[in-house]
Amino acid sequence: MTLQDSPFLRACRGLPVPHTPVWFMRQAGRSLPEYRQARADVSMLDACARPDLITEITMQPVRRYDVDAAIYFSDIVVPLRAIGIDLDIKPGVGPVVAEPIRDAGGVKQLREIEPDDLTYVTEAIGRLVGELGDKPLIGFAGAPFTLASYLIEGGPSKNHEHAKAFMYGEPELWNELMRRLSAITLGFLRTQIEAGASAVQLFDSWVGALSAEDYRASVLPHTTWIFDQLARFDVPRIHFGVGTGELLGLLGEAGADVVGVDWRVPLDEAARRVGPGKALQGNLDPAALFAPWEVVAERTRDILSRGGAADGHVFNLGHGVLPSTEPDVLARLTAFVHEQSAV
Ligand code: CP3
Repeated sequence: MTLQDSPFLRACRGLPVPHTPVWFMRQAGRSLPEYRQARADVSMLDACARPDLITEITMQPVRRYDVDAAIYFSDIVVPLRAIGIDLDIKPGVGPVVAEPIRDAGGVKQLREIEPDDLTYVTEAIGRLVGELGDKPLIGFAGAPFTLASYLIEGGPSKNHEHAKAFMYGEPELWNELMRRLSAITLGFLRTQIEAGASAVQLFDSWVGALSAEDYRASVLPHTTWIFDQLARFDVPRIHFGVGTGELLGLLGEAGADVVGVDWRVPLDEAARRVGPGKALQGNLDPAALFAPWEVVAERTRDILSRGGAADGHVFNLGHGVLPSTEPDVLARLTAFVHEQSAV
C-alpha cells in the first residue's frame, strides 16, 4: 500500500475502500494515560511548540488504536499565539485571551503568519511523516468564526453574545477580522501541508450557534476563500462543526471535499442535505461510548449502513473524544468498524 492508496485518503476522495477508515477527533491527548505522563510538567502551549512531544503525542493513539490516520497534536489557538496574541490554554477550561478583541485596534494586531513563526510545526511534521510511513497525517486549523469567538469573548462561551454583537453591529470590521483570521488559518494549514500533512481539517466547532442566514452572510464567504486557496495543494479538505444540522447544505457549498457531521443528523439524511459529490465524516455520539458495548456496536452498524448513502464515508465520533473515555473502548471500536465494513 502507498500513502495515496490508504483507505482514509481514498474514502475522502469518494473512491472504493477495503474497509471504512476510522480516526477520532481529539484522539491525541485527553483520555490516554501515556498522554498525561508526557504532559506531566509541560504546559499545553509549551507542548505544542516542542517537536519531540508533538511527535510522541501524535503517535500515541496510532499505536494504541490502529486508527487509519493520525492528527497533528496542536490546538486551534497555536497560530494566534505564534503571531503574538497573549493567550493561554487553561486546564479544564480551554483557551483564555488576556485582552479580548473588541475594536479596530484589536483587529489590527492580527498580522499574517510566516513560515518562520512555525518552524517547530515543520520540524515535527517532518519527523511524523517519517514515522507514519503510509499512514496519513491530518493537519488542522480553527475556522475564522470559532477563532473569532475565543478572541472576542476572551474565552469559551455558551451564547457567543459578544461575538454576535460584533458581527451584527460592525459588519465591516467583522469582515476585516474574518479576512485576517482566514489568512492566518490558511498560513497554518499551508505550513502543515508543505511539511507533509496529507489531508486537512478545518474545525468550525462553534459555528452551529449561527442561523443559516447569518452563516451565509457573515462566515461562508471567508470559509469559501480558505477552501479555494487550498484547492491547489490537492489534499482532501474536511470541514467540521457541531450543531450544524441546519447548515449542512451551506457547509457543502463552502467547498470542502468531506463534511463532518455531529451525532444529531443521521448520515443518510446528512448526505441528502450536503448534496452529491462529497464524502461524510462521523458520527457516533462520543457519550455513547459510556454505554454497554452492545449499544455501541448496534449504533456503529447503523452509522456504517447509513454512511453508505454518501460518496465516501470516514468513520469518526460526532465530536471529540471525552476526557474520561476508556481507551480500550476506542481500540475495540476501531477493530469493530474495520471488521464490519470489510469487503
Ligand atoms: O484531535 C486531536 O487529538 C489533536 C489535538 C487537538 C487539540 N485541540 C488538543 C488539545 C485538536 C484538533 C484541538 C482542536 C480544538 N481546540 C478545537 C476544535 C475541536 C473541538 O473539540 O471542537 C477547539 C474548540 C479547541 C479549543 C480548546 N483547546 C478546548 C475547548 C480545549 C479543552 C479544554 C479542556 O481542558 O477541557 C483545549 C485544550 C486542549 N486542546 C487539550 C488538548 C489535548 C487539553 C489540554 C490539557 O491536557 O490540559
